[in-house]
Amino acid sequence: MRKILVTWALPYANGPLHLGHILEAIQADIWVRWQKLQGNSCIFVCGDDAHGTPIMLSAQKQGISPEDLVAKIKDQHANDYNDFIIGFDNFYTTHSPENRALATEIFLRLKQNDDIEVREIEQAYDPIAKMFLPDRFVKGTCPRCKAENQYGDSCEVCGATYSPIDLINPVSAISGSTPIQKTSVHYFFRLEKYADFLKKWAEGGALQAEILHKLNEWFVIGLMQWDISRDAPYFGFEIPDAPGKYFYVWLDAPIGYMASFKNFCERTGLDFNSYWQNESTTELYHFVGKDIIYFHALFWPAMLQAANFRKPTAIFTHGFLTINGQKMSKSRGTFITAKDYLSKLNPEHLRYYFAAKLNSSIEDLDLNIVDYTQRVNSDLVGKVINIASRCAKFINSNFAHKLSAELIAPEIFQEFADALPIIHTHYQNLNYHNAVRQIMQLADRANQFIDNKKPWALAKISATDPEVQKICTLGLNLFRQLMIYLKPILPKVTLEVEEFLNIGPLTLADINKPLLNHTINEFKPLLQRVAEDQAKLLITNTGV
Ligand code: MSP
Ligand code: ZN
Repeated sequence: MRKILVTWALPYANGPLHLGHILEAIQADIWVRWQKLQGNSCIFVCGDDAHGTPIMLSAQKQGISPEDLVAKIKDQHANDYNDFIIGFDNFYTTHSPENRALATEIFLRLKQNDDIEVREIEQAYDPIAKMFLPDRFVKGTCPRCKAENQYGDSCEVCGATYSPIDLINPVSAISGSTPIQKTSVHYFFRLEKYADFLKKWAEGGALQAEILHKLNEWFVIGLMQWDISRDAPYFGFEIPDAPGKYFYVWLDAPIGYMASFKNFCERTGLDFNSYWQNESTTELYHFVGKDIIYFHALFWPAMLQAANFRKPTAIFTHGFLTINGQKMSKSRGTFITAKDYLSKLNPEHLRYYFAAKLNSSIEDLDLNIVDYTQRVNSDLVGKVINIASRCAKFINSNFAHKLSAELIAPEIFQEFADALPIIHTHYQNLNYHNAVRQIMQLADRANQFIDNKKPWALAKISATDPEVQKICTLGLNLFRQLMIYLKPILPKVTLEVEEFLNIGPLTLADINKPLLNHTINEFKPLLQRVAEDQAKLLITNTGV
């Protein structure tokens, strides 16, 4: 039995989850469930990323404390993930005692290694709000193309990158005042010291090829020191022996993975160290989007190495979700929150659709409403679920709910069981798209079998013809095999199938053990089709 710890990226605690967040959680959840189905131990943790200037300001705006804001949002996030049937073991927060202790410990180890440099830098400062301004909080005219209203780090029009002082007519987004330049002492992590270590680690198989390629580009440019401190006022953890200085949100964010797991260990008695000290007996995986790969594939393993902790076994990076071919954006009306979706449509439909499209590349993935409706209705409901309703009817009304004692065509059952190694490989390698395609081919095979045998025609001649019972028994056995393969994608439907078939939780070991001479329960519709009027509303409702 493998011992595995899996995380997905901690969403910021200052707004609702959207379907991009959900895509990531579903990708991770399917992988975790596949591990568990094999009998592996797989702990799955996440939490909210609670720190930073935007969260501090957002709390101010709402007239509440940042602590209250992040507590409220954390509950909302956990509920949304729950509603999408993300089977996490712990959903915690970076604003926790465990995280404060771990961040402090890691920082002190870095300091001990002489990995921290302290020096003065100049930064934009808002004299009215009395605070240093993150680049994104300064706006002005681009020094290169003269486009107005650009952020302090880069121009969205011409792509120039610069620092806020270079802007023409810079304005603080907080108070509207003109920022001044002010010096302040900052703490830097000497990332470049770990360049050789990182190169070796990156080549050890922890990254997808496209990501490794990106890293190699960064190695060529050269790694730079990383500013890990921010000045008060800031919502975060104060740096030891540095009054008024706080850890930058991205320092304690990935440590939040450890803290969430630690909190889980405290509640359950699991051994924290065996997961974070030992690379040979446990595995560690992070699911993240491609925008945060710098943090996960450079800063994070370097920090772990510096602080003498284990490194991730792999980082699984995914692309971005687009909606009908458009970037998700509020102004375009393509920003769909988790709640918007849940108020109209079934979470398992989306799990299935994402699975049917996900692969191991970092390409973007499009939610196309027409395609979604069609795949769910004709593949999932029309091909898979339909097998059960076609067969259950005869078994229940003509044979008193009883399956026959033998398989009429054991070779088909065997064919379904033989697909396990290939489907396993697809799941394991994050090629859910291929797994689903394989499963749908089997579903076609099952439907062909039933179509050829025409149990309805036989039943018309003699309702209790044993042939009808045998055909439908095989049909339901094939359906059961399909549901074993689909279990990680459709956890709730699977529960209902287990109830309908009157069996315990399906496992991979069941794949070659037919269900015979067995009494099943009444058939209830297991999954509805997509409500097309509702699916359309998803887009119109958001403003298109
Ligand atoms: N708080 C940081 C992560 C810290 S992890 C130690 C963060 N938060 S986020 O809320 O902006 O993003 C959380 C995750 O959602 C990231 O992995 C990000 O890539 C992912 N996504 C955000 N928008 C997305 C899409 N449109 N599509 C797919 N994933 C997207 O970054
Ligand atoms: Zn410009």
